[in-house]
Amino acid sequence: MTATIIAIANQKGGVGKTTTAVNLSFALHQAGYPTAVLDFDPQAHATKSLGVDTPSAVASIYDVLMEPDHYPMDAALVQSVYGPWCIPASIHLAKAEMQLVQSLRREMLLRKRLATLSAGLRYILIDCPPSLGLLTVNALVAADAVIVPLQCELLALEGLRDLLNTIRDVSADLNPDLTLQGILLTMFNRRAATCRKVTSTIRETFGARVFNQPIPRYEELVKMLDNGPVGHYHPGHPAAADYSAVAQEVIADAQAE
Ligand SMILES: Nc1ncnc2c1ncn2[C@@H]1O[C@H](COP(=O)(O)OP(=O)(O)OP(=O)(O)O)[C@@H](O)[C@H]1O
Ligand SMILES: [Mg+2]
Repeated sequence: MTATIIAIANQKGGVGKTTTAVNLSFALHQAGYPTAVLDFDPQAHATKSLGVDTPSAVASIYDVLMEPDHYPMDAALVQSVYGPWCIPASIHLAKAEMQLVQSLRREMLLRKRLATLSAGLRYILIDCPPSLGLLTVNALVAADAVIVPLQCELLALEGLRDLLNTIRDVSADLNPDLTLQGILLTMFNRRAATCRKVTSTIRETFGARVFNQPIPRYEELVKMLDNGPVGHYHPGHPAAADYSAVAQEVIADAQAE
C-alpha cells in the first residue's frame, strides 16, 4: 500500500500546524500505522520536536529536493526516538522558495521526489510553513488530502478563504485528487464567546469536513519543542487522548473510501 500524504497547511502563523503534525504522527504511529512527518518549514520545529538532530541526519528535505542526483529520497528518512519517522527540514529550506522559482515544473518537485520513497509508510504528514508560497504549493500538489488547523478566533475566517482558493486552484490545475480532509479547530476554548461563534460558523459552512474532535488550549502542548509528542512524555494527558481521537477520524476516513 502506498502512503497517504496529508499536508497540514494554513498560511497563518502559530495556529497549531506543527503541534498537530507531531502529535498526530505519534497517535497514528501508536495506532499501528507507520507514519512520517515531512518537515517543510525552514524553522524546523517539527524536526526538533521529534528529537531529530539535523546535522546528523544523512540528508534533509532541502537536499533531496534540490540535489536529487546526490540524495535519494530514502536518505532523508530517519526514525525518531518517539516512533514516528521524520524527513527533516534544515535552515537551507529558506533558500528553496527562491531557488524553486527558476525550476522547471517547480510546483511538482516534491510530488516527484516523494514518488521515489520506498519505505513502507502508511501516512506522511507534511508540516507546511506559514505562507502560501511555493513550498506550500509543492506540498498541496504532492498531497492526497489537507488538514487545516484553524485557531478559534474571528480573524481566522479571513485567511481561510485564501487558503481554500489556493487548494481549489491546485486541485483544478495540478492535483485533481486533492481533498480537504478536514478543518481542525485548535486552541479551542468552549467558554469564550468568540470561539463558540467561530466554531458554529465553521461547522455550519463545512459540516462533515470539520473534525468532531477539537483541540483545546493546553499548556502541556507548549513543551513539545523540548519534550516531544505529549503522548510520549505525558501519556495520560487529555491532549494525547484528543490527538488520538483525531487520528481515529483520519483512519476511519480512509476506511470509508
Ligand atoms: N492546543 C494548543 N494549546 C496551547 N498551545 C498550543 C496549542 N497548539 C499549539 N500551541 C502553541 O502555539 C504556538 C504555535 O503552535 P505551532 O508551532 O504548532 O503553530 P504553527 O502553525 O506550526 O506555527 P508556524 O506558522 O510558526 O509554523 C506554539 O508555541 C505551540 O506550543
Ligand atoms: Mg509550524
